[in-house]
Amino acid sequence: MTISTYDHDVLIVGAGLSGLRVAIELADNFDVAIVTKVHPLRSHSVAAQGGINASLGVDDSWEAHAFDTVKGSDYLADQDVVELLAKEAPRAVIENERWGTAFSRTDDGRIAQRPFGGAAFPRTCYAADRTGHNLLHTTFEQALRRGIKFYTEWFVTSLVKSSDSVCGFTAIDIASGEVHGFAAKAVVIATGGFGRVYAHSTNALINTGDGCALALRVGVPLKDMEFIQFHPTCLFGSSILMTEGARGEGGYLVNSEGKRFMDIYAPNKMELAPRDIVARAIRTEVLEGRGFEDEYVHLDLRHLGKKKIMERLPGIREICIHFAGLDPINEPIPIQPAHHYSMGGIHTDKHGITPVSGLFSVGEAACMSVHGANRLGGNSLLETLVFGRVVGGKVAEYAGTAKTPDKACVEQETFKTRERLQTLFLHEGGDSPADIRETMGQTMDVLVGVYRNSQGLEAALKLIRELKERFNDVSVGRSDEKYNFALIRVLELENMLDLAEIITMGALMRRESRGAHWRLDYPARDDENFLKHSLFTKVDDHVKTELIDVNLGMFEVKERTY
Ligand code: FUM
Repeated sequence: MTISTYDHDVLIVGAGLSGLRVAIELADNFDVAIVTKVHPLRSHSVAAQGGINASLGVDDSWEAHAFDTVKGSDYLADQDVVELLAKEAPRAVIENERWGTAFSRTDDGRIAQRPFGGAAFPRTCYAADRTGHNLLHTTFEQALRRGIKFYTEWFVTSLVKSSDSVCGFTAIDIASGEVHGFAAKAVVIATGGFGRVYAHSTNALINTGDGCALALRVGVPLKDMEFIQFHPTCLFGSSILMTEGARGEGGYLVNSEGKRFMDIYAPNKMELAPRDIVARAIRTEVLEGRGFEDEYVHLDLRHLGKKKIMERLPGIREICIHFAGLDPINEPIPIQPAHHYSMGGIHTDKHGITPVSGLFSVGEAACMSVHGANRLGGNSLLETLVFGRVVGGKVAEYAGTAKTPDKACVEQETFKTRERLQTLFLHEGGDSPADIRETMGQTMDVLVGVYRNSQGLEAALKLIRELKERFNDVSVGRSDEKYNFALIRVLELENMLDLAEIITMGALMRRESRGAHWRLDYPARDDENFLKHSLFTKVDDHVKTELIDVNLGMFEVKERTY
């Protein structure tokens, strides 16, 4: 088989909102291509429900948005990055509205905004409860309009570095099974989060953190990996997201004693406290015996009435009918917390620049430190559009002067990847990837979940490392070249195991409780030792851990109460 190396100025891995927005920014002046393992409209951005934050209200301001975000982050967010997010938010929303997003409206025709957790004003713009779906379709249309090239159903297997700069990658064309090289002046990782490291997650099955693992292997640090967001309201059984918008519209959380319990945990904000606090409250209710079947509590929407539910939360109603056999107009919804979002990711600055030249990252794959220890609902869609544009601008500056990529190096890596995959294919009778994946997910759910302690984390780290050993003997089980999803699942598992190990190492190292990271054995926030970002760098075959400073400045670090 011959080696083809595809050549573009800029390559973007991932076709969700952030990848598309970077591409749009570059399309007029550069030859830009997006490589994606699923059709762009199946990217996980499509699943975002509740909305996108922007201070459009007359009494609201970017400063109030920034303050809420910094406080919500438990003061771990870099304040200069938050400032950029909050200042640019109105522009990002209006841009997408003009492109055609069908935002819900107020009676006088303005973009409607609903209250979300931890926010001082109703700041979350929405398109019923299908906001991500709307934004993704609109943004994809804009990408098509600009003639951006898509390589759809390609799985990236390794980044290529030459003279310390990233100059491309190798990827499998899933349809044919062939491995080819891609050369570029700049590569942008926009592969989203790694929710599938956990067994219970609101994330799509595609969210396996591939981009983070690729970056780690070429020496780029991952940052703040221990901060995992557990969304409070996920449908019991399937963990499908029940949007925070349901509480924004006035939904109640009720325990088995029929009591709205949030007054104990966040008397001022009640159900609209930030997610970390609401998730812990639900867990505590269940652990203390006030849950249903020792598992869940109720999200009650009945008092909102049929009209409001049909208008504002039609998707939630449909999901409940199809996946739980209940209609929330008449019955409460059984919910429990599940993994939802990864605050950590590839270490970048606010421009998406990583420490390795030629490599950029954006969106959930990146950790620009805009969410700190806990992200506010509605800030994730916002991050993709604001920073997609910013990163696009920086990539343009870089690619405008960067040297021609080293194609020989890309070809060499392509040969190596082919050999490696052949060896994997030929290995018979080894361990089952499905078993390893199941054990990994359960371990992370139980031992690296909402509540953590050193004993559990040490046990988790040992188990994950055993799974990594077992992975060395894994077999794919199917050797067909075309559409070999068994092979893709194995490669995803390898990526997830690396990330699971680092999440757990971070959680063990951080001996304090901050935002979404709660240590039962260290229940206080410890600013003296841990008002710091954690960095994890692969050095040979081990991972080096260090702590770096948080950018403070605008808002004083305070106790966080709601
Ligand atoms: O609850 C939600 O609709 C999720 C929103 C978000 O993660 O920003």
